[in-house]
Amino acid sequence: MQRLYRARILNPTRTQCVTEYRDGALVVDADGRILAVGSYARVRPRFRAAKIVHYAGRLLMPGLVDTHIHLPQLDQRGKHGATLLDWLERYIFSAESRFADLSVAEDISRRFFKKLILNGTTTSMVFTTIHTQSTALAFGLAMASGLRVIMGKVMMDQHSPKSLQEATHRSLNDSAWLCSEWDGMAGGRIRYAFTPRFAPTCSETLMRETGKLVEASGAYLQTHIAETVAENSAVKTLFPRLHDYVHLFERTQCLGPRHLFAHAIHLSPSEYRRLARADAAIAHCPLSNLFLKSGRMPIERVEQSGVKWGLGTDVGAGPSMSMFAVMRHADYIQPDRSVEPMVALHRATRGGAEALGLDRETGSFAKGKWADFIVIDIAGIDPVYRLAELSKAEVLSLLMYRGDGQAIESTYVAGNKLDVDGF
Ligand code: GUN
Ligand code: ZN
Repeated sequence: MQRLYRARILNPTRTQCVTEYRDGALVVDADGRILAVGSYARVRPRFRAAKIVHYAGRLLMPGLVDTHIHLPQLDQRGKHGATLLDWLERYIFSAESRFADLSVAEDISRRFFKKLILNGTTTSMVFTTIHTQSTALAFGLAMASGLRVIMGKVMMDQHSPKSLQEATHRSLNDSAWLCSEWDGMAGGRIRYAFTPRFAPTCSETLMRETGKLVEASGAYLQTHIAETVAENSAVKTLFPRLHDYVHLFERTQCLGPRHLFAHAIHLSPSEYRRLARADAAIAHCPLSNLFLKSGRMPIERVEQSGVKWGLGTDVGAGPSMSMFAVMRHADYIQPDRSVEPMVALHRATRGGAEALGLDRETGSFAKGKWADFIVIDIAGIDPVYRLAELSKAEVLSLLMYRGDGQAIESTYVAGNKLDVDGF
């Protein structure tokens, strides 16, 4: 049955443009695809048979897109570490080792997907741990949650704690098996990402063979790059023949259009240009970068290069699951330029979908895309606010600087209202 959702609608149409319909309509077919978006007065006569769902006094916008998040780190948020390495060694590696136990993996995975729904994140790109069975279990829960999820088992075959180190062939075989089992499930809602953790914990052989698997499968690759100066120095020592950091991914053929690089803070203009030329993308995680004092992504270089970029929470180095919190920190972290609400909203929705190569599927409202959207009650931020009294600019600014999960009333993926108690 067709449904027509009536509400105030925001639609990020271009980088600097959010289109608004104060009395808007979003029409969705029985499969969960968008048939039309526009003003209620114009759209309604074309869809007389549609069942109307009226969200009076509510805002409806595309679901949020988190391009970088770690499932096993859900409960590690807010634990102080002096540096990235210190934090990984004090909390993260031991937390990830516990995923050898399927009951731990099940509990945390279930709560993780519930939190995504509660925060209005409809699409996410997720790291699990090295554990194959726990990752399979997480995929099962991702399917059941109804969310759009790109996910992969972490790969690491060197310079890692004993409990998290795998043999190279096992890492490759298990990842290939998970990809064959899960990539493209639920009509493409579930996708696989090969996940070499970062260069220091991955041998060159692992990287090279992973590049081949990505190519052969058409799946994604996700990793971290140039998050801290110390990491860059370690990579230089471990791979002395490299010209620079990006060269490693070029040399191992791990660079292409479905390749997501988290952080990418400490790179040269040439490296950003080469990422752009390969049509790769960056997951910018400003809240995590502030938390670990990793540095600032040079947004001016990134934009000059034309490389695609989205935003990521990077939970658990990022203490918040809310993409609104990430949006405001994208602005706070830049000392001498503004990232305006309209631009931040674009990056948290349509720009993120573009970074993931999903802009024909989700991230904004257009005929043929999936109906992935959230319903926002602005009074959830503060009961003093009345949506009808706020301008578009005020709404965008409030969402960005004060928004969090409290503002999210409902989360829909492919036209289905997601139920946190349903899985
Ligand atoms: N670099 C390698 N592993 C990690 C991780 O788990 N979190 C962050 N923020 N950086 C990393
Ligand atoms: Zn990360």
